[in-house]
Amino acid sequence: MSKTQGKNPRDLRSARWFAPDDLRSFGHRSRLMQMGLGQEDWEGKPFIGILNTWSELNPCHAHFRHRAEDVKRGVLQAGGIPVELPVISVDESFTKPTSMLYRNLLAMEAEEQIRSHPLDGVVLMGGCDKSTPGLVMGALSAGVPMIYLPAGPMLRGNYAGKILGSGSDAWKYWDERRAGNITDAQWHGIETGIARSYGTCMTMGTASTMTAIAEAMGLCLPGASSIPAADSNHIRMSAACGRRIVEMVWEDLTPDKIVTDASIRNAAIVAMATGCSTNAVVHLLAMARRGKVALDLEDLDALGRVTPLIANVRPSGKDYLMEDFYYAGGLRALMSRLSDRLDLGVITVTGRTLGETLEGAEIYNDDVIRPLSNPVYHEGSLAVLRGNLCPDGAVIKPAACDQRFQYHEGPALVFDSYPEMKAAVDDENLDVTPDHVLVLRNAGPLGGPGFPEWGMLPIPKALIKQGHRDMLRISDARMSGTSYGACVLHVAPESHIGGPLALLRTGDIVRLDIPGRRLDMLVDEAELEARRAAWVAPKPPYERGYGWMFSRHVTQADKGCDFDFLTAAFGPAAGEPDI
Ligand code: FES
Ligand code: MG
Repeated sequence: MSKTQGKNPRDLRSARWFAPDDLRSFGHRSRLMQMGLGQEDWEGKPFIGILNTWSELNPCHAHFRHRAEDVKRGVLQAGGIPVELPVISVDESFTKPTSMLYRNLLAMEAEEQIRSHPLDGVVLMGGCDKSTPGLVMGALSAGVPMIYLPAGPMLRGNYAGKILGSGSDAWKYWDERRAGNITDAQWHGIETGIARSYGTCMTMGTASTMTAIAEAMGLCLPGASSIPAADSNHIRMSAACGRRIVEMVWEDLTPDKIVTDASIRNAAIVAMATGCSTNAVVHLLAMARRGKVALDLEDLDALGRVTPLIANVRPSGKDYLMEDFYYAGGLRALMSRLSDRLDLGVITVTGRTLGETLEGAEIYNDDVIRPLSNPVYHEGSLAVLRGNLCPDGAVIKPAACDQRFQYHEGPALVFDSYPEMKAAVDDENLDVTPDHVLVLRNAGPLGGPGFPEWGMLPIPKALIKQGHRDMLRISDARMSGTSYGACVLHVAPESHIGGPLALLRTGDIVRLDIPGRRLDMLVDEAELEARRAAWVAPKPPYERGYGWMFSRHVTQADKGCDFDFLTAAFGPAAGEPDI
């Protein structure tokens, strides 16, 4: 055990609960004893909270029930006392209307669980999309030493000898089914083969993007985010998280020493180089604001322009999945390729610098982790657009769309609701051309509600039958990290609060210019003014409960969609509980 750098057991945060000779502490100690613990189990030892997002409705975290035991083993080995606390699971698979509605709830729960309990350090167990930013946001605000344990990607999908990728292949084969190209039996076979083990989506979707970001921020053990969930290395990594967090407590290695301007910038560069999910934008902005780091859309666009996409992992890459990425060397290998661009002096949870943790990293497959001289795409994965349709920004993933959309002009086909749009795209007689621009509004943080992943709007059946598989689509929604296509997302301000997207009409000409980073509707200002005057605000989606609080306090996409009262700028964090 390394108690070298400082902390005396009497100075442990948990000692305030258990050490004093007073009635309050008598109560606390007697309640530990009620659970069968003796003084020797806890005295002088750090209490390590294991914040576990396990749930039987979260297939991505199915193994966390067991992994928590491995973390405990590590904590005990290092002389700590492990305590497991459940927090909301925020699963991507089943949560309606969208898991994004609950990211901030997880963040609040994580922060308050940590603050209100006798915890000296925490292991955060997450991985499925929103669970990473939710846990990290909460733990950053709570401020005790923390380490992030990523769930790891599931195994590659397989059907009839073909590799299947989470999400991406579901969309792809669904279009083939709509075109009448595959049978019901084949469709069922794909269903049974696309998710073969526990773990997160194994494309470079939101889950793998966000765990890569957590590692690049310095919050994971080196290489942890790339280990497949079903690999025994994942079990050993879990125990190692338990051992390491105990040392971090003695070293007083709090997250403010790890999450800095430089580490957030490193994370953004790594995200761009991996071909990250567009969701990374919203989550990076939110995490940065919790870490008191000024980061905005322009910073991300600037990094996107100069960072080549080198992870050849679907959906932005062509051929490979996360399992291949791990065998090719994983995130350490990718970061070693970027070492000239990263700040290698930042401290990570290891207590060592990022540079030190990358020493000896090797690339075992140059086609999966490409050299900078042979990237998948010459720029990073994201571009930020501005224009009269999105004065506060919008994002697009240029690498994941047909290159003819770099510059495009076409008439808008506008829908106010998802059901209305769905009925239209399923109509084989819909009057639509490949140049049309499909638009969905009322799908933003407030309008969705909760900012659903509807942004990869389905291609109209009429075009599918003609062989088209991409068209320009615009919405104030997000899209799944496993999605692809010419989809402009996160249009801000959103239409529900009267953003300019609310004024667009079917037939208006829309112009997209990706190199110029512009998105405009070619409608003159006097006409827009008349439309603005006639616009009627829609009814708020919630009148009570969590949804009501969400609608009152969520910020727009360009601010990260955190609650206004949770960002570091809102005010100082609550002090320690008065016990
Ligand atoms: Fe959990 Fe994709 S559904 S990571
Ligand atoms: Mg997803």
